[in-house]
Amino acid sequence: MTMYSRIIGTGSYLPEKVLSNLDLESMVDTSDEWIQTRTGIKQRHIAAPGQTTSDLAMEASRNAIDAAGIRASDIDLVIVATTTPDMIFPSTACILQNKLGIAGSPAFDVQAVCSGFIYALATADMFVNSGKSRNALVVGSEICSRIIDWNDRSTCVLFGDGAGAVVLTQDQKPGILSSHLHADGSYNQVLSAPASIHSGEMQGTPFITMEGGTVFKFAVKVLEEAVSEALRANNLQSSDIDWLIPHQANIRIITSTAKKLGIPEEKVVATVAQHGNTSAASVPLALDQAVRDGRIQSDQYVVLEGVGGGFTWGSILLRW
Ligand code: ACO
Repeated sequence: MTMYSRIIGTGSYLPEKVLSNLDLESMVDTSDEWIQTRTGIKQRHIAAPGQTTSDLAMEASRNAIDAAGIRASDIDLVIVATTTPDMIFPSTACILQNKLGIAGSPAFDVQAVCSGFIYALATADMFVNSGKSRNALVVGSEICSRIIDWNDRSTCVLFGDGAGAVVLTQDQKPGILSSHLHADGSYNQVLSAPASIHSGEMQGTPFITMEGGTVFKFAVKVLEEAVSEALRANNLQSSDIDWLIPHQANIRIITSTAKKLGIPEEKVVATVAQHGNTSAASVPLALDQAVRDGRIQSDQYVVLEGVGGGFTWGSILLRW
């Protein structure tokens, strides 16, 4: 009998501090009008100095575990997607596992930048549908604010902090129907935080650098392709899709992609105005919001998609 993995609980967490576009006006030469027109972003959340990526992940995970109606001790796989880990090693997933008071099961991080949650969920799906894991915790958690040059107006207005999590469990009923992952490393310098450590010294800049226009065009192209690929693989039309949950980088990328796919705006979950781009956390944050406010209902078709540094990109199609 074919087994599937199914999301049985979602959760999220946003740090208390909100940084508005007006706040940014007093920090760099920008305007609320410019930011909203070019990106759709109104505000973003910023982690407190003492908070770590695993702290944010912990809050989101607790909410997801509660929603799933299981105990933390039922979790037998922990995957954290992050670009901003607590430290070089151990993985943020191991630190999170310890904070959840569990031990023994595999725990590891996935680094695929803004596609990280799509990569992590696709990976967990393979553990769960094959029977290797029973209950997987999959988290996207980021403190982007720590790798931003707050003097660079071309990047500092775009990003925010947060975490989202899901619990995946094995079920005879789908569940995740397909996942499609891609990467093209020839773009590795177009979007990066190109620092490295040499003999204890940092070389290069740890701040996000990007060619915004190239990222924009590439994102719209591959996101349309990744969703179309998912539809073809499941013999579905775009009109069958109830909810598109895109990576939240820029409202213009989101609406251009939806338009190319023929998916109407009212079926697109957009949180970028409130969250900014939270990298690997953006898709699970948007998913949790749409589950909790009752938009996503049983048996509906939901497509998740993401694109990010690498470049990496992909899609996951599921039946709720
Ligand atoms: N405030 C005011 N002016 C600004 C700002 C700012 N914050 N940033 C740039 N500008 C200026 C530029 O200097 C430029 O001025 P100039 O014409 O005098 O040279 C002007 O605004 C236009 O700049 P463009 O870069 O052409 O603006 P564009 O419309 O392309 O928007 C943006 C830039 C928002 C970065 C867009 O290219 C974009 O969203 N790209 C995708 C990048 C992205 O989302 N990256 C996130 C990570 S990747 C991911 O998550 C997939």
